[in-house]
Amino acid sequence: MTHEFEPLTNDLILRTARGEDVERAPIWIMRQAGRYLPEYHEAKGNRDFFECCRDPEVASTLTLQPIERFAGLLDASIIFSDILVVPQALGMAVEMVDKKGPHFPDPLRSPDDGQYARVLGRDAAAAADELDYVYRAITLTRRKLRGRVPLIGFCGAPWTLFCYMVEGGGTKFFIESKKWVYRHPDATKALLQKIAEVCVEYLARQVRAGAQLIQVFDSWAGELSPSTFKHFSEPYLAYISKNLPERLRELGLDPVPMIVFPKGANYALDSICDLGYDVVGLDWLIEPAKAVEIRGVRRVVFQGNADPGVLYGSRDAISETVKEMVQGFGGGKKGWIANLGHGITPQVNPEDLRFYLQEIQRLTAK
Ligand code: CP3
Repeated sequence: MTHEFEPLTNDLILRTARGEDVERAPIWIMRQAGRYLPEYHEAKGNRDFFECCRDPEVASTLTLQPIERFAGLLDASIIFSDILVVPQALGMAVEMVDKKGPHFPDPLRSPDDGQYARVLGRDAAAAADELDYVYRAITLTRRKLRGRVPLIGFCGAPWTLFCYMVEGGGTKFFIESKKWVYRHPDATKALLQKIAEVCVEYLARQVRAGAQLIQVFDSWAGELSPSTFKHFSEPYLAYISKNLPERLRELGLDPVPMIVFPKGANYALDSICDLGYDVVGLDWLIEPAKAVEIRGVRRVVFQGNADPGVLYGSRDAISETVKEMVQGFGGGKKGWIANLGHGITPQVNPEDLRFYLQEIQRLTAK
């Protein structure tokens, strides 16, 4: 089940991710398809969020919106979906509540919870089967892209998905997550391992369907400590980077560049550079030059990292931020994929994003 697609006319991000010298830094933006775009609201209408994810026609339309609006300024697309489709595939109910975010009506409260045993007993391949609609959306999107830019597939990191599964949604204090970590460490690790196995199978099938790079979002890495990150996140991120290429080989597929985004975990950046990923996404809490210094001679490519909030600022503020970022990452001819330090937020004026993208192109093409 491999597909024939038109050849890429822009492979800048693939060459950069492989560590090659490039003519300028490639650019994409986390959450580039989303609520700041008026055409997103128009296409979504009053459909439920997960209904959009499950409809390949809608998901591919939403994926292409920023590529079309910012033609020539974005060097990658990312499939429209959500990290929480994996807990759904593990049998948990997840709803997206308007203006509030994700909600699990029945989160995992303790290892004695019957649901815990059910989730652990779930076969990884059977869970990945549930996500067939994502693979179909990826294949359709690759066709519609006609080789304009590569398509990124993604999943949530085991730690971040675990937090959602036990908290039941967004949280400020991570009370349930911390109870699991500090009261039930073995049960926590068993669940993290199960999620990691599903992630490998899910990502492999995204690649088989047409994804040309993959990103693992560890959005809640910053809620751990150096010690708990080492025990509750890193081993599972490493499991994915080690096992995905092996699984792809078994499927007769070539490896693809792998990106990890451990948001808030700059305290562990040195060891993150050794996790087996080609690209490490940085949030805006670290100076690019500092990250470059920690990386040293290692081949890892960085991605990021301006404060997404600068897009609420003046053109001068945007220019200044871009200038500092480009300088900090060494000019943009190697080892850096431009992005923001986290996803673009609602109410940003798309024209201000256009200016940000233009400034990066202008300053890195020099
Ligand atoms: O353009 C893209 O980047 C692709 C689509 C994408 C979405 N979610 C669409 C979405 C991606 C890559 C994600 C990943 C995701 N989802 C993460 C990791 C990245 C991050 O931001 O840290 C997380 C933590 C989630 C979980 C999630 N989904 C939350 C917390 C929320 C609500 C609040 C918020 O920040 O948007 C969502 C909803 C969601 N996912 C929307 C979109 C476009 C908004 C839905 C809407 O209200 O229309």
